[in-house]
Amino acid sequence: MTRLTIAVAKGRLQAGTLDLLAKSRLCETRNALSSRRLAIEDESGRFRFIFVKPMDVPVYVAHGIADCGVVGRDVIMESEADLLQPLTLGIGRCRIVVAAPADRPASSYGMLRVATKYPHIAAAYFGARGQPVEVIELSGSVELAPVLGLADCIVDLVETGRTLADNGLSIVDVIAESTGRLVVNRASYQLKAKAVGELIAALEATASAGDFAE
Ligand code: PRP
Repeated sequence: MTRLTIAVAKGRLQAGTLDLLAKSRLCETRNALSSRRLAIEDESGRFRFIFVKPMDVPVYVAHGIADCGVVGRDVIMESEADLLQPLTLGIGRCRIVVAAPADRPASSYGMLRVATKYPHIAAAYFGARGQPVEVIELSGSVELAPVLGLADCIVDLVETGRTLADNGLSIVDVIAESTGRLVVNRASYQLKAKAVGELIAALEATASAGDFAE
């Protein structure tokens, strides 16, 4: 029997991913959520699930350690890894935006200081506009940077908009919409075609039904 290793992004997508896997009869959600184990196997032996930081999902899949992964489009764009993306899953819907203090809009003259967890996305966005930027890479709580004067604006995720609003920031532009996606290693797509095809079909059937619909 062919076994697939699936990398699941920990954090904001994790519960939705496990719910989707459970509804597709691919994994028992409750056990996986309550455990701190970072790798679990399902009873059938068809799947092994590994739980990693979102930014590491493309790394595991691109290197073929995981055959597939579930991760946000934001992370895929940032990683620039060469991955197949056969399915949009309709979970973890959010936007990647440029935001600045509502009372101090970032000037487009001269060098702009941009704080972000997404240095590649930020550089590509401003580069395409011919705007010189200093990208200041942070690991989190990015909204603090313009408030404390570390940056003029941020490139970050917005889901409800609450973090922006609570820190006095407004959206300047939307760079991209993001939802969870299934990513697949190119070699696995060929060498484990039947198992990967069955996984895609099962997830697609669940994702296109009910709660998970786009
Ligand atoms: C993300 C993002 C924003 C926030 C947006 O951070 O970077 O800070 O969520 O959500 P909202 O629009 O619903 O308020 P995350 O929770 O991943 O934590 P982090 O800042 O530590 O990365």
